[in-house]
Amino acid sequence: MADGTFTEESCPYAAESAKPAKFGQMPGALPIVGHAIEMYRRPLDFLASLPAHGDLVELRLGPGRAYMVCTPELTRQVLLDARTFDKGGPVINAGRQLIGDGLATCDWLEHKRQRPLVQPAFRADRITSYAEVMEEEIQATTVDWRDGAVHDISAALRSLTIRVTARTLFSAPMGASAVAEVEQGLPPVLSGLYWRMLVPLQALHKLPTPGNRRFRKSLARLHDAIGGIVAAYRNSEGSHNDILSAIFEYRGGEHGDSFSDEEIRNQIFTFLIGATETTASALSWVFYLLSENPKAEEQLHAEVDAVLEGRPAVHADLPHLDYCRRVLTEALRLYPPVWAVTRTTTSETELAGHALAKNTTVMWSPYLLHRNADLYSKPNEFDPDRWPVGHNPTDSRGAMFPFAAGRRKCIGDNFAMVEATLALATIASRWRLSRPDGTRLVPEPKMTLGTGPLPMVCTSRSPQLVSSN
Ligand code: HEM
Repeated sequence: MADGTFTEESCPYAAESAKPAKFGQMPGALPIVGHAIEMYRRPLDFLASLPAHGDLVELRLGPGRAYMVCTPELTRQVLLDARTFDKGGPVINAGRQLIGDGLATCDWLEHKRQRPLVQPAFRADRITSYAEVMEEEIQATTVDWRDGAVHDISAALRSLTIRVTARTLFSAPMGASAVAEVEQGLPPVLSGLYWRMLVPLQALHKLPTPGNRRFRKSLARLHDAIGGIVAAYRNSEGSHNDILSAIFEYRGGEHGDSFSDEEIRNQIFTFLIGATETTASALSWVFYLLSENPKAEEQLHAEVDAVLEGRPAVHADLPHLDYCRRVLTEALRLYPPVWAVTRTTTSETELAGHALAKNTTVMWSPYLLHRNADLYSKPNEFDPDRWPVGHNPTDSRGAMFPFAAGRRKCIGDNFAMVEATLALATIASRWRLSRPDGTRLVPEPKMTLGTGPLPMVCTSRSPQLVSSN
């Protein structure tokens, strides 16, 4: 285990099932709407109920059919064959119209071209250098917290991840105004985007309502700011040690290929959307779960106190923050920010012995897999100790899929883990967060599986260090 890999003995769910996969149909479809109302009203309960009906389960979402894969083996089969199970369908099409054909939305063939052009920006040595920005912004997050005061932790963490993403994208001094524009304009764009992807009815979104106007204005301002910064980088010399520089540096690389300015703008939008709510949701759940589980909180505080002795965490501390990583892994298991995803078949194919026609919607869900009692004992319990020392949730073997698997696996998985671990360790070394009223949270499954507003009492663990913040 020292090298962080699983063996069958240490990971009971690592072995692929030898049983033939079973096809089933979800009962209870209503005329015309099918299961859409249930899926809309109680999506998480609905997802968790599916494996009882088969390994591949047919659903009716409105007049159309969709197929949910309910085992790690079938999920892997779908994710590893990105050509047959491609991005597509109404949600992805709506996303393409709004943010362009970037890495997360483009089809299989275009993805083959785009991913190598972006990958160098996420090399391990690059992420080490982005960690400095993360460290600065994490410290800035708690600067105005006062002992005993209540703060909305999910809002603070969303603001943190937006600042980190914007500054690691364009860190040059000329990028400062674009960073400020992103901080202000991204939150309304993110909430409007979810609604537009869920209900892709152009006419509705063109109505002159205050919400539609605000969305269009914020999106236009973001487009202008991002267009301006891409043009400025193109005309500037030297590297700024950030994601945008890495993408520009790759121009004319070994394949002689490069992005146009419009394509770079699309990638920037893709990163802003992919990197912010996801990491913020994961961290919000971590602080909530720790407040509910005093033993785990105590163990985490003991680790950060021993490793950091009150100072903020830096990249070199990461190998020593194993319990922090296990707490994060367990939060990603219980509340995977990307909770359900669709694919579209590009040709006739077979899955679980069932024939699927071209253009069939196939779905996979980390939430469904992570809550399955056949895969995890006491699946609804928060237990960081179920993860072996050294385990990293970016490892897509076994039954953990918070970052997906295969060619379309999250490009920012290591970035997210570095950012989240540094944030968790630094904040927990100085602050204990508790729920003011002890109420249980109800998850909000929207674009990500969020906590919604998360007011928490922030109690200083080290007053003299807080005042020198
Ligand atoms: C805890 C945080 C995060 C989680 C749970 C997460 C999860 C995921 C998942 C599940 C996918 C695959 C979606 C699919 O199969 O359709 C994905 C793709 C992607 N993510 Fe993340 N993500 C996180 C953070 C980030 C960060 C920090 C970045 C960028 C800095 C990022 C950028 C992307 C991009 C660009 C893709 C598309 C990759 C491709 O298709 O090649 N994500 N993410």
